[in-house]
Amino acid sequence: MMASQTDVMARLMALKPAHVKPLFSTVEGWKKFQAEEAMKSNQQLTDRNRQARMEKIIGRSGIQPMHQKCSFSNYSVECPEQQAALDAAKGFVASFGKSHGGFVFSGNCGTGKNHLGSAIAKNLIKRGHSAMVMTVSELFENHRATFSKDSPVKEAGLLRDLCNIDLLVLDEVGLQKGSEYEINLLTNIVDRRQLQLKPTGMLTNKNFDEMVAMIGERIMDRQTDGGIWVPFTWSSMRGRKGMKS
Ligand SMILES: Nc1ncnc2c1ncn2[C@@H]1O[C@H](COP(=O)(O)OP(=O)(O)OP(=O)(O)O)[C@@H](O)[C@H]1O
Ligand SMILES: [Mg+2]
Repeated sequence: MMASQTDVMARLMALKPAHVKPLFSTVEGWKKFQAEEAMKSNQQLTDRNRQARMEKIIGRSGIQPMHQKCSFSNYSVECPEQQAALDAAKGFVASFGKSHGGFVFSGNCGTGKNHLGSAIAKNLIKRGHSAMVMTVSELFENHRATFSKDSPVKEAGLLRDLCNIDLLVLDEVGLQKGSEYEINLLTNIVDRRQLQLKPTGMLTNKNFDEMVAMIGERIMDRQTDGGIWVPFTWSSMRGRKGMKS
């Protein structure tokens, strides 16, 4: 005679060592656990597909080779402000998915904005999310390439993929000319991503007022709504002993 699910559950519970706390103890709990696990693995599959799709379209991995070794553990802390930046970056990863707020790392050259931005993206990819760090000029280049009638990637498709990726970190924001085309594209992406509850990160040498002047109040308003602004005020770490570039 076939054992009922209740019998199987009773046997499982009897086999379990006394010190092990079960994840479920009833048939209903078991079914719920199985359904949740299936959902989790489906979601991870979708995120991995998004990452692969984006990397194929852009033609490179989500993090540039120069920043692939950047991590939280090899980020040196020499002042309280650097500690605050490291804590903010770690906090962003820890609370990822709980809010759609993004981040802006603003400050001097060589202070580690790409280092921490890449470490965030790397950590998220490791956890099964999709993430990409991309300069604004690379974004424009990829977008303009879709205008060619021979382009295998269509504009709508590129925008959809850029908006579907879990974390998009835009680098060198504020260096562009600030033309109507550029502002419209950035606003469109930040807006659409926010509607889909996908945060955007920004790395920039500009301060808040300069950012507003360059890319407009609308984008900055979206970007700082629920997001974090982290100042990188110390001097350059580039070329220091032990630093890579
Ligand atoms: N606190 C740090 N600990 C270890 N390495 C660091 C730290 N800060 C920066 N670096 C290293 O210094 C180099 C320059 O840093 P990074 O490219 O992140 O600077 P940045 O703030 O993005 O500069 P820029 O504004 O010029 O683009 C990188 O190799 C990075 O790994
Ligand atoms: Mg940089």
